[in-house]
Amino acid sequence: MDVIALDDPPDAQIREWHGVLAAVHAADPGGEPAPDPERTARRLLGAEPGGRLRLWAVPGGAGGGLLGVAALRLPGEPGADRPGEIDIQVRPEHRRRGLGGRLLAAAAEGLRADGRTSVITQVLAGTPAVPFLESHGFECVLTLRGLLLRLDDVPAGRVARLLAAAPAGYRLARWRGAVPDEHASALARAKHAMADFAEYEGTPWDAHRVREMAEIVAKRGDDLYTVAALSGTVVAGFTEVVVPAGAAGRAAQYDTAVAPEHRGRRLGIWVKAEMLRWLAEQRPEVREIETDNSGDNAHMLAVNEELGFRVERESLEYQAGAGALPFPAP
Ligand SMILES: CC(C)(COP(=O)(O)OP(=O)(O)OC[C@H]1O[C@@H](n2cnc3c(N)ncnc32)[C@H](O)[C@@H]1OP(=O)(O)O)[C@@H](O)C(=O)NCCC(=O)NCCS
Repeated sequence: MDVIALDDPPDAQIREWHGVLAAVHAADPGGEPAPDPERTARRLLGAEPGGRLRLWAVPGGAGGGLLGVAALRLPGEPGADRPGEIDIQVRPEHRRRGLGGRLLAAAAEGLRADGRTSVITQVLAGTPAVPFLESHGFECVLTLRGLLLRLDDVPAGRVARLLAAAPAGYRLARWRGAVPDEHASALARAKHAMADFAEYEGTPWDAHRVREMAEIVAKRGDDLYTVAALSGTVVAGFTEVVVPAGAAGRAAQYDTAVAPEHRGRRLGIWVKAEMLRWLAEQRPEVREIETDNSGDNAHMLAVNEELGFRVERESLEYQAGAGALPFPAP
């Protein structure tokens, strides 16, 4: 049962890859919607802008089936000073036989060959991924609470009330997709306000990276919505939501931040309330919004709780240095 690299996988292999994701999800749904086959295909085939995806698999199932798969995303240019992002999935009935470890070793070689110094991944607390990663050189760098807002549970009038309490001296702007040129640099500056994340993401935000992130979302076929609070031309705070193609009932909260000098004026809850109003108008099919909050970000948790988000699960962000990762057996 050797690990093989998959370059430009044909349709049959993409279906097999999806079969592994579906089997893993069926065994442990973890509150996530089932994976969507078209989304898997788009991800595996779409040469994502702003990075590359390398793929490995362990064949050996009946009829050419795959027993386990590994995807390594290499954001930015080759050798960029940013961690790779790894995702390994092994069919439940083939676990504890070393397949996960072998897939990780193959991906680690890909990581080192690209000149990266570290890799990150996000997993659910309490799942086998935790002992797996900890036995392979990974350390937990961040605890994230997974929260869910069911729009049907938001009391009538709450959004309108929050919007009516507009902070003095600010106005709202909103856009779908890439940031308009006039706000690009100001949005990048506001993204610096997310200091908690900058620590391990490495690269500073600039207008180029902000556009690159929007392109990645669009290339997947998903829709990015942004609401910003402006003070003159400054983006004082913003919030982003992505409505995925193919699973439109549940949208994902992306970044929300308020620049330090504008905090304490309820800008965070104001932009989020406007996002709820705008989504209800533009995308009425969205019934739920999911988000991850850093476990120690008490302020953002309070904002989300006030809006009606409820804690669903805990995820952990793990990181390992390239040198700490296993090497393939000779
Ligand atoms: C995490 C996962 C990939 C591990 O795959 P695997 O093929 O079972 O891993 P391995 O057999 O190589 O395990 C290597 C070591 O990890 C540790 N480990 C793995 N699963 C474990 C578990 N359920 N309990 C305790 N330790 C575990 C053990 O130390 C194991 O060595 P051992 O079997 O000799 O004790 C698999 O459980 C999986 O697909 N989980 C769902 C998807 C996921 O969360 N992926 C993680 C994203 S990176």
